[in-house]
Amino acid sequence: MAESKVLLRALAGEVLPVPPIWMMRQAGRYLPEYRATRAQAGDFLSLCYAPELAAEVTLQPIRRYGFDAAILFADILLVPQALGADLWFVTGEGPRLSTVTQQADFDALKGAGDVHEVLSPVYETLRILTRKLPSETTLIGFAGAPWTVATYMIAGRGTPDQGPAHALMTENRPLFEALIERLTEATIEYLSAQVTAGAEVVKLFDSWAGSLQGQDFDRYALEPAKRIISDLKARHPGLPIIAFPREAGERYVGFARATGADCVALDNSVSPEWAAKHVQVDGCVQGNLAPTHMVTGGQALVEETRRIVEAFSKGPHIFNLGHGITPDADPENVQLMIDTVRAGRD
Ligand code: CP3
Repeated sequence: MAESKVLLRALAGEVLPVPPIWMMRQAGRYLPEYRATRAQAGDFLSLCYAPELAAEVTLQPIRRYGFDAAILFADILLVPQALGADLWFVTGEGPRLSTVTQQADFDALKGAGDVHEVLSPVYETLRILTRKLPSETTLIGFAGAPWTVATYMIAGRGTPDQGPAHALMTENRPLFEALIERLTEATIEYLSAQVTAGAEVVKLFDSWAGSLQGQDFDRYALEPAKRIISDLKARHPGLPIIAFPREAGERYVGFARATGADCVALDNSVSPEWAAKHVQVDGCVQGNLAPTHMVTGGQALVEETRRIVEAFSKGPHIFNLGHGITPDADPENVQLMIDTVRAGRD
């Protein structure tokens, strides 16, 4: 049977008359129904580990907007927690974790194969979603890439320049590399289990890839992505994979070819015309409207949306933002973006 889900068709390289659309952080605080369910769960982490409620918030943007894909509701920092790190969120500030800066901290971590115990509620969320999602909607699983997750584990929090992680890389490279290796293995385990539970596509979020320079980008962004992708494809033949080396700039060129990714997600720092010429030549691209348009709306939103659709219209494209939607976004601007993208469909 020919594939009917538009997102899977774009990932297979098909050029569609209207690009499929979904949005990073589409289940989030800009939606009143999300805030209500989150209040019911108590806090953010409890929501991540409550399968019925996590499935509910995953479905909310699908009901409201009819996006072509649903992304699992969870967080990239559940993996460090599953490896034994302490994790909590400070309201208004962000995540906090116990740190890994010494050999003894690393030695206390669990093995990659042990992550499933803590992460099993996430797999249950996916199983619920396979039953509840509309038949045309693609289910996307995800994980953080090793470098990005390591930056949080080393610093114990988010940092503007990933300074502590760069410092450990220089001061104790064997320890740093052991952590990257453990995270690479844990990510393969986690994503493979997500696919077994029903994820049809997986996305690897390397939000801080852009802060890796020169050889370090190849060693700690490109190589781990390549390993994760090839292992996952060996275990799950035909699995489509989206890689997001955020702010990679000119290193987006050839990233899909070098890693085996089926699609590269673009942040909004690269122009769609440049990316169409230099990145889309290798296959599907995703992106890349600036999330600020979801706050400001109006004619600028419409014009920039049309420009992106037009620039990528000659090759496979999935419409998305360049990064996650922010809590101050207006839900009506999301509808305006969708209407603009789909204007040619009916
Ligand atoms: O795209 C999606 O909606 C899927 C779910 C998802 C979340 N986080 C839910 C979430 C995904 C893919 C992430 C990824 C993530 N989490 C990243 C990488 C992607 C990126 O945005 O760059 C990072 C760095 C994290 C770690 C993290 N989690 C941070 C820095 C924060 C913000 C802290 C805060 O107080 O806002 C979170 C929280 C988080 N993750 C929220 C959501 C919906 C907000 C939680 C809430 O308060 O309800």
